[in-house]
Amino acid sequence: MTVLLLVIMGMCGFVWYFSKTVTQAMEVTMETKKIAITFDDGPNPEYTEVLLEGLQERNVHATFFLLGAEIEKYPKIVQKIEAGGHLIGVHAYEHVNLSNLTDAAAMEQVDKTNEAIYQVTGKRSEYIRPPYGCWKCNLDYETKMIEVLWDVDPLDWKTDNADAVVERVVTKCQENDIILLHDAYDSSVKAALRIIDILQEQGYEFVTVDELILE
Ligand code: NI
Repeated sequence: MTVLLLVIMGMCGFVWYFSKTVTQAMEVTMETKKIAITFDDGPNPEYTEVLLEGLQERNVHATFFLLGAEIEKYPKIVQKIEAGGHLIGVHAYEHVNLSNLTDAAAMEQVDKTNEAIYQVTGKRSEYIRPPYGCWKCNLDYETKMIEVLWDVDPLDWKTDNADAVVERVVTKCQENDIILLHDAYDSSVKAALRIIDILQEQGYEFVTVDELILE
């Protein structure tokens, strides 16, 4: 009787261990590949809302690096970006190369943009993508903002061929990459939505850049 009990207990233990191992293995293989899609230079009165609708249909959260002067012109679009659950970051106030400015002028570009974001959303952003990717090292210390660059740049602003943009991104991108696009062009918005469809099909999950950076 005791022997039988021990055998049953042993079998139960084996089944438990086996199922646990299988579950863990499945969790590893089922973990999605993360990727972030980002848009610079908005809000844009013609294309941002079209993009937002497309993102919502696909259940995707993106990251928008906005220009302060455009936020002031189109606050309602910024409200929609915020309401859509997307992450908002600072680009600059005007589209200028911050490294060509004095420290004070560059800081003003950042501060005025973050103030504009605050006026619309009630919070300031911790993230900045400076125009042309040109930052000033000493500003890093002053602003305490997190600089976000990119991994994949299809130069979408140079072409109106959406297919070419899609091709450049989907052939290059990898897990944990940050894709750079601009919601200032019809072709870029079309390309972005096609890129999302293709990459979701490949098992990618779109996240905002803070989710990639915080890992
Ligand atoms: Ni830009």
